[in-house]
Amino acid sequence: MKQFISVNDVRKIDTLVLSALAYKTNPLSDKSLGLNKRIGCLFLNPSMRTRLSTQIAAQNLGMECIIFNVGQEGWALEFEEEAIMSGNTVEHVKDAAPILGKYFDILAIRTFPSLKNREDDYSELYIKQFIKYAGIPVVSLESATLHPLQSLTDIITITEELNKWESSRKPKIVLTWAPHVKPLPQCVANSFAQWVNAWGRSDFVITHPEDYELSEEFTKGATIIHNQEEALKNADFVYVKNRSTYNDYGKSYTNDAKWQLKNKRWAVTNNAKVMHCLPVRRNVELSDEILDGEMSIVTQQASNRVWAAQAVLAEILRTPLP
Ligand code: CP
Repeated sequence: MKQFISVNDVRKIDTLVLSALAYKTNPLSDKSLGLNKRIGCLFLNPSMRTRLSTQIAAQNLGMECIIFNVGQEGWALEFEEEAIMSGNTVEHVKDAAPILGKYFDILAIRTFPSLKNREDDYSELYIKQFIKYAGIPVVSLESATLHPLQSLTDIITITEELNKWESSRKPKIVLTWAPHVKPLPQCVANSFAQWVNAWGRSDFVITHPEDYELSEEFTKGATIIHNQEEALKNADFVYVKNRSTYNDYGKSYTNDAKWQLKNKRWAVTNNAKVMHCLPVRRNVELSDEILDGEMSIVTQQASNRVWAAQAVLAEILRTPLP
């Protein structure tokens, strides 16, 4: 694996999942794989799980991990080609990235979308410029449109649960929109849809209010239902995530509490497990009774972030450089 930006960089999802689950059983089985190697994790935006799980994963592989909070501590970066840098940006990515490529063996980056201009956000300029100029493998710690380490974690967690089943039937997975107080990126929902579709081992349903369609680039293959209760019928896994609109870009039309899941609505599911990438706004996005109930696997899910990151870093370390 030369980079990890989306599911398209993965040869076989199941192989990566098996590798992650093996690391969960034996975290230090490859403790020399990354010896004398260094990963730089650049954060242009805040994080808890991604930052810490990647750091632990690197350490488990014997790698040194250096975190740089570019957004707070670094020079403001310019990403546009041929920019006249007379504004707030101080350093161009084409000057910074090659230096980072000399300091590190792997570069990992978190950026968020502006949610102002869809074309700009969906061009993934920031991460693409790092790939273009760093000259070393780049890992997405969440980009403007996708969150692949989260989605790999989600498939790992679902697989773990399926391994407990006696039946080999396909699970029904539902991705549901939830209310929020502000417009959020579409990354987690886009990425989850992209990975579940590529994985191809479920009946996949997406439910959201009218006008909250995601890009078909990611959802193609899923069934879209606007009635949440109908969508949840016989669900085995329910993934809850707010996001802003894609078509009329970056808007939040509604904060309708009817979409906040509670025990009453859960009754139509097949005793489903609830998933959320976290952080979650309690009693806005998701009720206490669901988050604290037996159906919640959000802590298991977040803890699996380590094994997802470890499987990806190991795969990159094993790939010979050109
Ligand atoms: N789920 C997730 O990416 O969490 P953080 O924003 O805390 O990294």
